[in-house]
Amino acid sequence: MVDLVVAGGTVVTPTGVERADVVVDGERIVGLDAGRERAGARRVIDADGRIVLPGGVDVHTHFLIGFMGQRSVYDFTSGTQAALRGGTTTVVDFALQRRGRGLMDGLKHRRVQADRRVATDYGLHLIVTDVNAATLAELPRVVEAGVTSIKCYMVYEQEQLRVSDGALLDLMAAAGRLGMIVGVHAENADVIDRRAAAALAAGEVAPRHHAATRPPVSEAEAISRALLFAEDAGCAAYVFHLALGAGVDAIARARARGVRAFAETCTHYLALDRSAYERPDASLYVMSPPLRTADDQRLLWAGLRDATLAGVASDDASYSAAMKRSVDASFDKIPNGVPGVEHRLPVLYTLGVAQGRLSLADLAEVFSTRPASLFGLAPRKGAIVAGADADLVVIDPQASRPVRADDQFGPLGYSPYEGMELSGWPVATVRRGAVCAEAGTVTAAEGDGRFLERTLPDTTLPARH
Ligand code: URP
Ligand code: ZN
Repeated sequence: MVDLVVAGGTVVTPTGVERADVVVDGERIVGLDAGRERAGARRVIDADGRIVLPGGVDVHTHFLIGFMGQRSVYDFTSGTQAALRGGTTTVVDFALQRRGRGLMDGLKHRRVQADRRVATDYGLHLIVTDVNAATLAELPRVVEAGVTSIKCYMVYEQEQLRVSDGALLDLMAAAGRLGMIVGVHAENADVIDRRAAAALAAGEVAPRHHAATRPPVSEAEAISRALLFAEDAGCAAYVFHLALGAGVDAIARARARGVRAFAETCTHYLALDRSAYERPDASLYVMSPPLRTADDQRLLWAGLRDATLAGVASDDASYSAAMKRSVDASFDKIPNGVPGVEHRLPVLYTLGVAQGRLSLADLAEVFSTRPASLFGLAPRKGAIVAGADADLVVIDPQASRPVRADDQFGPLGYSPYEGMELSGWPVATVRRGAVCAEAGTVTAAEGDGRFLERTLPDTTLPARH
């Protein structure tokens, strides 16, 4: 007798798409089956007419984040419950090294905040803000603690996050020797700060000036600079929240020189474009980098298909509509970031698969498999294979409904996808064999998730196809 059979769905595995039962015992996948195990199973989920994907791996969330004087609505409990509702079973969030403090200090602090709260499994990247001899000497302990990736901000000096160019290069050299991957928030601080100061001085304070003061060149230049540093340092590099088509090209060109260059894009860059900044509620779309053009979107989709981009993350930063509106009199006061952890899958299914931009196999790759493998979570996470954790999401490709802020998890007051007609909504999410969300109801409690000690990243460059 087995614990669970997800029966008769269209199952997306690394080797193909087939109609099968997924057999689960305890926390692990036993294998695929043609129906023999159903009779004796303790629980059967009927997936007839539905699609079964590996549980989502969202490698960029910011739960319980304070930024620009505001605090996210989602903490580790509500954020991970929203994730489960959206078919995501693993998140990788961030621990912050405060300037003047140690790396392990930041890591321990974040684990205290998260360990007994999470409902998904989770890992952490380390945000490094203070690169000095003590920081570099602490890196091996960070790796031993299961944190094998770093994020550096090339902007946000006012938030005490920015790392200078020299510091980034030194950090990449040290991290590269350990086999870590260094990710960047790639924007040119000098260009942005100067443009923002000029706009504010001219009284151009409306939310749309957030985007106007962060032109494409500020993102493109910073991506190229970070990749040059990675090349010199012999370090694998990852560009977080890449929005620009030219950025995809920069990754491809760096790879052609042998640089281990990787990047993600985010749900909102695929679904929304810069016309959002002409709306009366433009403050709701303030994030960095800002939304770009339809041409950029075309290149992002192509980059996902040919694996130049590793995947799609949410970059969930859940400032509520009320928070954003309360400071929208001046664009430089609006907290950067949008919610999205719950909508990554239906957006990708609808705009990707249903509209012919991605195959089902591509969807599994960008939603789960490639991010899991790059960030040292495979083979436990990221694929429906025997022996892996039984992390699964069952979606309904037929039922379609519009996104409504009131239907989503948590009092956010808006969704950036409000009104979009989406299909492929999750009907059941299974994390390590436990049914955690069903028909929109989350049953997983806080603390049911586990911290994941990640192995070093797999930075083998994929073959282009
Ligand atoms: O605007 C954004 N992306 N906010 C979240 C914080 C970050 O930079 O990742
Ligand atoms: Zn960022």
